[in-house]
Amino acid sequence: MNNYQRPISNLSDESALAITSSLNNLLANEYALFTKTLNFHWNITGPRFHSIHEFLEDHYKILLSVMDDVAERVRILGEVPHGSVKKMGEQMDIKESDGMNMSGNEMISDLLTDHVKIQSFIKETISHEDLFKNDPGTEDYLVGLLQKHEKMSWMLKSHLD
Ligand SMILES: [Fe+2]
Repeated sequence: MNNYQRPISNLSDESALAITSSLNNLLANEYALFTKTLNFHWNITGPRFHSIHEFLEDHYKILLSVMDDVAERVRILGEVPHGSVKKMGEQMDIKESDGMNMSGNEMISDLLTDHVKIQSFIKETISHEDLFKNDPGTEDYLVGLLQKHEKMSWMLKSHLD
């Protein structure tokens, strides 16, 4: 084993840095979506208050667990996950929303857009086969995460159909 390999992942520094940089970008977007989902859970009003309030609670709990897993994946690869709101803010691509004056459907539709955006980010990331040929663990994790977002997207979309 040479100096450039990491004990757990056995990746080169270059590969580990490229993958964890994508994971940290993903973490910032999961953080943005978690925060927005939590905020909409708090601020939803209207005739479907109870069901949407509870539904969004299920989703923000899933997203909290997703953030934990993405951050721990960064640690497994030997790097440091974003640890401050400032860092998250600098790297998030998802547009924040205070949820004011939004109907339930507008909130659901906004969240759906964000989930699909994260799905596109994951698909783009795993399309770099050369990057993941020595890291099937992270690739498999990302495929599983993509499926989680697709399922949440389906649930959101079903409210709008
Ligand atoms: Fe709550």
